[in-house]
Amino acid sequence: MRKKIVAGNWKMNMNLPEGVELARSIKKYFQYNNSLKADVVLCTPFIHLPLLGDILKGSNISFGAQNCASEHSGAFTGEISCEMIKSTGATYVIIGHSERRSYYLENDSLLYKKADLAIKTGLNVIFCCGELLPEREANIHYGIVKRQLEDGLFNLEESNFKKVIIAYEPVWAIGTGLTATPGQAQEMHNYIRKLLLSRYGSKIAEETSVLYGGSCKPSNAGEIFSMPDVDGGLIGGASLKSDDFCAIVEAI
Ligand code: PGA
Repeated sequence: MRKKIVAGNWKMNMNLPEGVELARSIKKYFQYNNSLKADVVLCTPFIHLPLLGDILKGSNISFGAQNCASEHSGAFTGEISCEMIKSTGATYVIIGHSERRSYYLENDSLLYKKADLAIKTGLNVIFCCGELLPEREANIHYGIVKRQLEDGLFNLEESNFKKVIIAYEPVWAIGTGLTATPGQAQEMHNYIRKLLLSRYGSKIAEETSVLYGGSCKPSNAGEIFSMPDVDGGLIGGASLKSDDFCAIVEAI
């Protein structure tokens, strides 16, 4: 059975007290609603990570970062290494989010380097892929996702793949209020599973969780999550409100 996962991506939101408050209220919700049917992960700005271990202690909620350095350590001013992330107690890192690809020009080979290093450091990687609107309109969205996975992720050794979660996030759906239809999500997730099958074989294809991301909210999450190849979600805007995020987790 594949793991169901709902991960919040806070992006560059929440100062320290606000983040502490949000994490506390999510923890509290699941203490009183003993119905956690998915692994829940909070991917926060780096500043929150050292505090989250204590705040979330006693819950099943995990936490992680939204980016990491591609190098081990050393003279890389402003960077945060995988080892530093791990030392906070974090167990996840998002790699290849479309905002990193487009605003910080992160390309497939850099993302592979980050993913490989993160996994070798012991972190779980939520690896994002997804096409732009013109790419979908030109009907080349399958080819785009294939390239992102083949060049960015499929260089990983099979034995490291247990730590990989894939998030399909059509860029036109991120933060726009436009969501892929459940059918569109299912089609792409099924395609991703076929790519996994041809590269790594049936065990990995069956066991790798593939999350959907892009304007997920309490009102649409249930329908999207009910698709057979959708194993949960990566949630941006709606992860900033405890009630909405918890309702999305409940939708699993
Ligand atoms: P959104 O963002 O839910 O606000 O569309 C998703 C993401 O970027 O991970």
